[in-house]
Amino acid sequence: MMVDASHLKNDIDLGDLIIRQVVKDDLPALEWDGEYTQFRRMYASLYRDTQTGRALMWMIETEKGDMVGQAFVILRSGELSAADGERRAYIFSFRVKPGYRNQGVGTFLLEFIHEDLRRRGFKFVTLNVAKDNPNAIRLYRRLGYKVISSHAGKWSYTDHEGITHHVDEPAWRMMKRIG
Ligand SMILES: CC(C)(COP(=O)(O)OP(=O)(O)OC[C@H]1O[C@@H](n2cnc3c(N)ncnc32)[C@H](O)[C@@H]1OP(=O)(O)O)[C@@H](O)C(=O)NCCC(=O)NCCS
Repeated sequence: MMVDASHLKNDIDLGDLIIRQVVKDDLPALEWDGEYTQFRRMYASLYRDTQTGRALMWMIETEKGDMVGQAFVILRSGELSAADGERRAYIFSFRVKPGYRNQGVGTFLLEFIHEDLRRRGFKFVTLNVAKDNPNAIRLYRRLGYKVISSHAGKWSYTDHEGITHHVDEPAWRMMKRIG
């Protein structure tokens, strides 16, 4: 019998986790267990942006190589108020697998990214968070992010089968000073 164990808690020691940049071979694992297959093209395109210095893709895994979470960073985008390549960087696709949540993994990963961006000379981190995601908003506030504007949150992506999807997700833009 198949058992869905994704909700079970995996006790972890943060010190045993590895944070590293995504390499090409990791792209399939970023689809998790089929949950994010629809983002295959978006991830491939973002990976190309990592090769030209426009983006960073971070993942956190166990010593055995099991995917625990991820967060991506745009260093330079067309929307300068989000990421201008110099002072502001934009974090998105931040998620931790359900069985690993509420143990400090997300905080650990974000703090690592803040420190990495600080070293790269960035002064501010921005992100969008859905207005109906109180847990994430609370986490960001705890880490020092403040709401700076309201966004309609309309965006679209083309899935792995070439179908375009329009997402309508009213969001807060939050920002934190890191430098
Ligand atoms: C948002 C998300 C990435 C947070 O990841 P996480 O690993 O659970 O984050 P943390 O464990 O660092 O923090 C979550 C809570 O657990 C608490 N916590 C941390 N360590 C803990 C521990 N050892 N024991 C109990 N609770 C703990 C934290 O205090 C925090 O509570 P607070 O934010 O109310 O202060 C995760 O919930 C997720 O993937 N959600 C779905 C995707 C999503 O919404 N992403 C954000 C998009 S903007």
